[in-house]
Amino acid sequence: MLDKKVTELINVQINKEFYSAYLYLNFANFYKSKGLDGFSNWYMVQAQEEKDHAMLYLKYLQNNNEEVILDVVEKPAISMEKLIDPLKAGLAHEEYVTDLINTIYDAAQNVKDFRTMQFLDWFIKEQGEEETNSHELITKMELFGTDPKGLYMLDNELKGRVYTPPSLII
Ligand code: FEO
Repeated sequence: MLDKKVTELINVQINKEFYSAYLYLNFANFYKSKGLDGFSNWYMVQAQEEKDHAMLYLKYLQNNNEEVILDVVEKPAISMEKLIDPLKAGLAHEEYVTDLINTIYDAAQNVKDFRTMQFLDWFIKEQGEEETNSHELITKMELFGTDPKGLYMLDNELKGRVYTPPSLII
């Protein structure tokens, strides 16, 4: 059995990760509609990763005999006008997700739940990588995205991102 608060927060996290997948699918659709298949691909892959994150939290609750409570997934509500808008919103969203995970970690630490703390270590590292990737994308877009040739090359680069399943197995 896990602590009630920890279980509650992980259930919220499942919903937030599914929302992240929705959000990134929305970004992928936006870029597809602009003819930027590489940016679209990048976010399609990101959406798959977010679904994986949700499933890992879900599995963790199952494995610990805790009830999984699935909630309504909100409609993505981010206005996208400029090409850089999703990139900036993506970074802000990842920072928000990092805060959520830190809050779960804090709750686990308060009740000496070392198992959950160890489980969350992978996500804490993953968040670091996701924030770095988001920063890099914004920097590249600011440097090259305003020039059509630069944008074309950047889009081609992002076509190369391929999905790999998570390294965490539970
Ligand atoms: Fe699942 Fe992008 O955090």
